[in-house]
Amino acid sequence: MTISTCIFDAYGTLFDVTAAARTAAAEPGREALAALWPRLAEDWRRKQLEYSWLRTVMGRHADFRTVTADALDWALEAAGLADAGLRDRLLALYRDLAAYPEVPAVLAALKRRGLATAILSNGSPDMLAAAVHSAGIGGLLDDVLSVESVGVFKPDPRVYGLVAERFGPARDAVLFVSANGWDAAGAAAYGFRTAWVNRAHLPVDRLPARPHHVVADLTPIPDLARP
Ligand code: LAC
Repeated sequence: MTISTCIFDAYGTLFDVTAAARTAAAEPGREALAALWPRLAEDWRRKQLEYSWLRTVMGRHADFRTVTADALDWALEAAGLADAGLRDRLLALYRDLAAYPEVPAVLAALKRRGLATAILSNGSPDMLAAAVHSAGIGGLLDDVLSVESVGVFKPDPRVYGLVAERFGPARDAVLFVSANGWDAAGAAAYGFRTAWVNRAHLPVDRLPARPHHVVADLTPIPDLARP
C-alpha cells in the first residue's frame, strides 16, 4: 500500500536525548559531570524507559515529565552527583533538546510529497511543544500526538491507535520511524510499516515483530515513503 502518513517517535529519533548531559558537561564548573556524562545520559534514558514500562504494567501512570525527572534523580544519585542545581539545569536542557541535523530537510521533503507528518511520543504535551519549538520544526509537522490522551506508554497498541484517530489511514499506509528498537517492534506488531533508525549500530531486538527497514539516520526516510 502507498504510504500516506509518516509518523516519528520524538526522543532519540528527532531529538538528541544525549545532548542535555553533553551540553551541561561542557559548562564551567561541571568537571565531575564531564568525567562521566555518557554514563549519566545512558542511565537516565534507561531508567526513563524502564519506569514508563513498569508504571504501565503496574497501572500507575504518571506523565513523561514526572518519569523523566524520577529517572534523572536515580541516575544522578548513582553517579554520586545528586545536586539540585545540576538537576534543574539538566531538566531545562531536556526541555529544549536540539533536533538531529537532518531532521528539517527530511520533514520538508515529506511535506513536498504531500505526506502527512506527525510525532507520536511518550512525551507529555508541554515537553513536546517546547522541543518542537526550540528545534523550529513546528511548521513541518501536521500534529504532535502524545500518549497522554490514552494514559499509557508505548508500546501499548492503544498509543499507535492514535494515528488512525487523527489521520485515518490503513495501518500499512503508515510509515512509523523510531530510533528505539522496541518501539519499531511495537509499531510493526501493530501493523505499521516501520523504519528503525539504528544510529548506534545495535543488534535488532528479539521481539515478536521486526522493523521493515533499518537505516543509520533519517536521511533515507523520504525515499522509503515513496509511492
Ligand atoms: C518517545 C520516546 C519513547 O518519544 O522516545 O516516545
